[in-house]
Amino acid sequence: MPSAYIKTYGCQMNERDSEQVAAMFLAGGYKLVDDPKHADVVLINTCSVREKAELKALGKMGLLCAASVSRPWVVFGFMGCMSESRGKELFREIPRLDVVTGTHRFHRVFSLCDSLLRDRLNNPPVVPLRRGAHICEVQPDEQAHNFIRDHLPMRTSCSAFVSIMQGCEMRCSYCIVPSTRGVERSRPAADIIAEIRELVANGVKEVTLLGQIVNRYGKDEPPVNGRSSFVRLLEAVHEIDGLERIRFTSPHPIGFREDLVRAFSYLPKLCSHIHFPMQSGSDRILQLMRRPYKQAKYLALCDAMRNARPDLAITTDIIVGFPGETEEDYLLTKQAVERVQFDNAFIFQYSPRRGTPAAEMPNQICLREKEARNHDLLDTVNRIAIARNAALVGTRQTILVEGPSKTNPTRLQGRTSQNKPVIIEQGSARAGDLVPVLISESSGFTLYAGQTY
Ligand code: 5AD
Ligand code: SF4
Repeated sequence: MPSAYIKTYGCQMNERDSEQVAAMFLAGGYKLVDDPKHADVVLINTCSVREKAELKALGKMGLLCAASVSRPWVVFGFMGCMSESRGKELFREIPRLDVVTGTHRFHRVFSLCDSLLRDRLNNPPVVPLRRGAHICEVQPDEQAHNFIRDHLPMRTSCSAFVSIMQGCEMRCSYCIVPSTRGVERSRPAADIIAEIRELVANGVKEVTLLGQIVNRYGKDEPPVNGRSSFVRLLEAVHEIDGLERIRFTSPHPIGFREDLVRAFSYLPKLCSHIHFPMQSGSDRILQLMRRPYKQAKYLALCDAMRNARPDLAITTDIIVGFPGETEEDYLLTKQAVERVQFDNAFIFQYSPRRGTPAAEMPNQICLREKEARNHDLLDTVNRIAIARNAALVGTRQTILVEGPSKTNPTRLQGRTSQNKPVIIEQGSARAGDLVPVLISESSGFTLYAGQTY
C-alpha cells in the first residue's frame, strides 16, 4: 500500500485543506504516515504570511529531498499559499521538487501525485533523481471566483473545521493573503448545513466555521430582519440536533454589527471565545495598515460582546514593528492589551512580504527593535493570560473531552467553551463526551480539574 506524509504550516484554513487532501489519499488506497522517511508521497502545505514560515517549509523540503537518495521514486510536492505566490520559481530553489499546486488546486494534488508515483514505480529510476517532474498548477480554476471547491466532509475527532467562505478583499497593507487566496466567495448555506449534519452523524460535537473574514459570509445578500447572512447561518447551524458547540474564525471589525454581538446572548451553542484580530492599538498605525476601523470601535465591540456574554474569552493577533511604528504607537498597543485583558494573543513581528505596500514604506523598524517590542508585549500578554486562567480556579466548566492528555496518557484532555485546555483524571469519560468539571488548579496556561460526577 503506498503511503503519504502531509506536513501543514499556517492557519486553520490550511489545516482544513490538508485534511481534505489527506481524505483523498485515503480514498485512493494510500495510508497516511507520520514519518516522511517512509512515505512515497511527501507534501508540505505552506503559509506565506511571514517570511519565517516560508523559510521553514523550504528548509524542511530541502532536507527531505536530500534524504531521498536511496528512494528515487518518492514524489515531493508543495501546496498552499507559498505555492500560489511563488509558483515555478520554487523549482529553482529545490530542483528535486515534483509538484507545486496553489490554493485553488487542492483537489488536483492527489491525481497529480498518484499518477507520477505510478509512473515511477512502473519505470523505476535507476539513479537518484536530481531534478523532479516540475509540474506547476497555480492559476485559479475557471470558476474559482464563484465557488469553493467541493468539500469531502472530514473528521479527525469530535471537532471539525468547516470552510464557509474563502478569500479576502481587504488588502491590509502588510498582508499577502489577498494575492494567495483570491477574491471573497461564500459557499451556499444548504451545502454547509448538509456537511455539518453529516459530520454530526459521524460523531462530531463541535464545528469551527472558517473563513479569512468569516463575518463577511454572504456579504452581497441583504440582511433579513436586521440579521446578516452570517448570523442567519449561525442560527441555522445552531438548529442542528446533536451539534453541541459552534466556533468561528476569524472575524474582522468591518461588518461586525449589533446582530452578531447579540448572537452571543441567544445562541447558547456559540462558544464563549472569539479570536478577534486587533493588529495595533494606534489609530495612526491602523490607518497605515489600511485597517478600516479606529481603536475605539474595536474596544467598543469587545465591551459589547462581553455584555452579551460575560464569560467571553477574547484572543487576538497583534503586529509589532510595523513600518513607522514609534515608541508611542507601541505603547498604545500595550495599553489596549491591558484595557481588553485578552485571554491570549499571538504577537507577530512585522515581516515585509513581496508585492505588499507596507514592504515599500519608509521607516522600516530594525530587527532588534521588533524583537524588543515582541518580548516586552509578550510579558504583558502572558501575565494577563495567566491571571485570567488563575481566576477560573474554583469555577464549574463544561469540557468537551478530546482524548488522552499528550503529556500523560493516563489522564484526559478537553477544552472549555472558552477554548482553554483542561486536564482531567480519567474517570469514565471518553473522547466526544461533554463533562461538567470543577477547575481545581491552573499551571499558567493549562487548567486541571477533577470530574464532578
Ligand atoms: N508580518 C507580520 N504578521 C503578519 N500577519 C499577516 N501578515 C503579516 C506580516 N506581513 C499576521 C496578522 C494576521 C495573522 C494571521 O498574521 O496579525 O492576523
Ligand atoms: Fe490579510 Fe487583512 Fe485580509 Fe486578514 S483582513 S487576510 S490581515 S488582508
